[in-house]
Amino acid sequence: MPAGSDSVKVAVRVRPFNQREKNAGSKCIISMNGKTTVITNPVNGDTKSFSYDHSYWSHSDFTEDGEGIYHPATPEGHYADQKTVFNDLGKGVLDNAWQGYNAALFAYGQTGSGKSYSMIGYGANKGIVPITCEELFKVIDGNEDKEKQLQILQFEKEGEQEASETWENMAAA
Ligand SMILES: Nc1ncnc2c1ncn2[C@@H]1O[C@H](COP(=O)(O)OP(=O)(O)O)[C@@H](O)[C@H]1O
Ligand SMILES: [Mg+2]
Repeated sequence: MPAGSDSVKVAVRVRPFNQREKNAGSKCIISMNGKTTVITNPVNGDTKSFSYDHSYWSHSDFTEDGEGIYHPATPEGHYADQKTVFNDLGKGVLDNAWQGYNAALFAYGQTGSGKSYSMIGYGANKGIVPITCEELFKVIDGNEDKEKQLQILQFEKEGEQEASETWENMAAA
């Protein structure tokens, strides 16, 4: 890895409530304080804190612009938009790739927790992968030497059974 950078970065992101959670009158028990994710026990108010490289608040305090892109509601607002996540996480992966290092980005969480939103994005709110590709091709376009070889691999696993079959197939290939 290039000097001065970490080989592994871990970030947590909290998404807005979905309709089911709103209908259930859910209370958000997560808060972000800088790099720290704080979980509050709704019964007794006890808190537990966990520190990561980034703790992203994307639960509320955002507005939608004319193109359907979500931004912080106020300029100094704490809402973490797609661009912020890309700048913190995707950019480093891209910089490493330019230097010839292989890089992997891994999203973990239960179904509906926001993995696809962060990685790929929905509609105008592009995620890390499409922004990374745009940046890649911007640089390649501005390059004299246009011959570049690029390989991006994406796979998604869902459920233990399917995952072990995938690994078996990969091992057999
Ligand atoms: N940071 C976010 N801001 C706004 N909406 C989000 C965010 N993360 C997830 N969502 C919404 O929540 C829903 C589930 O997210 P999704 O990325 O599809 O989950 P997963 O891929 O983990 O199953 C989608 O409708 C998505 O648009
Ligand atoms: Mg998904």
